[in-house]
Amino acid sequence: MFEIKNLSMIYDMESDDKLYALDGINLELPDTGLVGIIGPSGSGKSTLMYCMSSLKKPSEGVIKYKDKDITSIKDREREVLRRKEFGFVFQKHYLVPYMSALDNILVAGTDSTEELVENAKTYMKQLGLKEAEFRKKPAKLSGGQCQRVAIARAMINNPKVLFADEPTASLDHENSFNVMKILKKYSNDRLVIVVTHDRTVLSDVDILIEMWDGKISGVNSGN
Ligand SMILES: Nc1ncnc2c1ncn2[C@@H]1O[C@H](COP(=O)(O)OP(=O)(O)OP(=O)(O)O)[C@@H](O)[C@H]1O
Ligand SMILES: [Mg+2]
Repeated sequence: MFEIKNLSMIYDMESDDKLYALDGINLELPDTGLVGIIGPSGSGKSTLMYCMSSLKKPSEGVIKYKDKDITSIKDREREVLRRKEFGFVFQKHYLVPYMSALDNILVAGTDSTEELVENAKTYMKQLGLKEAEFRKKPAKLSGGQCQRVAIARAMINNPKVLFADEPTASLDHENSFNVMKILKKYSNDRLVIVVTHDRTVLSDVDILIEMWDGKISGVNSGN
């Protein structure tokens, strides 16, 4: 599904101390499965995910998604691609403060049908949120609860690729495992890419990518 060649991302291009956030990345990923990206803070994990999801334009290299180079397509085409094919869970949850948890999920939906509402509730329940929390606004929810609402929001449109940047960062051990179990199941018929620095949540990944200083230092096929 993804074919990445010689991908580099240089921040502060003009300055003397150019920073290679990504440095000559080569990577191929299949159509389905759970992919983990692990590495220390600042190693380029988020930047790689932003480039793959076309939120950031790389300085060099090619990213082919379904045989098409998405680094050179027009902005409009890129927006359509993101809306139709990709789902995101950001490092921060970015929920709309004046909307309930449920409405925050529904607002991402392409059409507001009964089925969408049922799906939203099902995802929330699976993610360990209780009925009482569905109608609460983000300010009344804990960080971990907000994070799970953001995960449900990303799942609701059935994306072909789900990008999740530290989706378990504010969760306790038990909830982290539950979220990973759901993402694993969700990855049966799509690609799910999870960035984390917590190795323990990645026990069940199909592919593990290790990053170090803007480079891929290892790729392992999991179990
Ligand atoms: N917008 C930006 N402008 C300049 N430098 C940036 C920018 N975003 C990231 N960087 C730098 O690029 C490098 C990689 O950052 P990135 O956010 O991809 O790391 P990360 O692996 O996701 O880290 P973390 O685990 O802390 O989230 C870091 O050195 C960071 O300081
Ligand atoms: Mg990051």
